[in-house]
Amino acid sequence: MILPSDQGGGPGNIRGQILSYAVLAPSPLNTQPWSVLCRDPCGIDLSLEKSRLLSHIDLESRQAYISCGAFIENLDIAARDAGYTADISLFPLSWPGAIIDPGQPVAGIELISDPGVVTDPLFAWIETRHTNRTIFKEEPIPAEILSTLADAAEQPFTTLGFSSDPSFRKEVAGHISDAVEVTLSDRYRLLEFLSWVRILRGSTHPHQDGYGMREAGLHGIRGWLSLFPLRLSPAGIKSTKARELLLKLAKKQAESAAAFGWIATKGNSRYDQVRAGRMYERVHLTAASVGLGLQPMTDILEPYPGMEKHYRMVLDLIGIPDTHTVQMLFRLGYSDSCSRSRRRAVQDFFRR
Ligand SMILES: Cc1cc2nc3c(=O)[nH]c(=O)nc-3n(C[C@H](O)[C@H](O)[C@H](O)COP(=O)(O)O)c2cc1C
Repeated sequence: MILPSDQGGGPGNIRGQILSYAVLAPSPLNTQPWSVLCRDPCGIDLSLEKSRLLSHIDLESRQAYISCGAFIENLDIAARDAGYTADISLFPLSWPGAIIDPGQPVAGIELISDPGVVTDPLFAWIETRHTNRTIFKEEPIPAEILSTLADAAEQPFTTLGFSSDPSFRKEVAGHISDAVEVTLSDRYRLLEFLSWVRILRGSTHPHQDGYGMREAGLHGIRGWLSLFPLRLSPAGIKSTKARELLLKLAKKQAESAAAFGWIATKGNSRYDQVRAGRMYERVHLTAASVGLGLQPMTDILEPYPGMEKHYRMVLDLIGIPDTHTVQMLFRLGYSDSCSRSRRRAVQDFFRR
């Protein structure tokens, strides 16, 4: 498929097409925190855009780096489809640390024309993949589908697991609900959340980032009914009412999971986070290819005060040693698909 390009023709045109697929990657609250510098003749530097980081929710920018991994995976797959190999060097200029320097790219990528490159069938699912926040049906996931997902991705020092065991699901769902409560109990986190998830502002969502009520899983008559009291409530208590609604929704979402999946890494370096993001994107694309809904539920992975005990319990339940870090936790299940969140135009990502 030919997408709008960044430049008139030649390599720039291909680069624009490939980037159009890369920006369809998932990112926390759809912040799309990427910035891209195009180098001649066909190079791309990917960096993080500081103004788009979630300073209260994603305290250590771990989620932002995971989203860079997902961006790189999409880019790699789309490059193959266009007949190019993407030669990817992570952190080409310096060892990454806690502080983010936008001048130090997360990845330097060279696109090399390669007529013999092997294409990836997951390309077909880049435009379909989306986070599904609807309540899943009570329909079990066949074991062979879970093993297809388990085979979807391989990254060094990164593990992927799934469980659909009913008592496991019940316990994990309980901890996830408690974790969302911890997250939203902090006013700054709640306000940051509501500045990207625009459920207080009516049914239309004209923004090219964040998401609205439909993508949040509040659509149809049920969604409208649950948002109605919120709309009527006085301005001073709107965010408190929104919090109550979000807690109820998260509980229902977690309880309707037909299975949970997780990605864990041995360390927790920026390399680990990017690798986990690449793996996550492959799992999500594979889920899309088999018609399975997927929603990350990652509050529990954040080091907010009061979260540690829930995180430890989940580590115990999934049998991951506490020397490891769970980078992604997600629920899976069947439901009618919900709408996709939007993206900014590719040109908006270019650093001038
Ligand atoms: C690291 C990371 C963490 C995420 N955590 C959550 C989460 O806790 N709850 C949720 O509903 N979505 C979560 N998401 C999904 C994003 O909100 C979603 O990718 C974004 O809104 C773009 O939508 P899309 O995935 O439909 O393209 C997460 C995504 C990433 C990359």
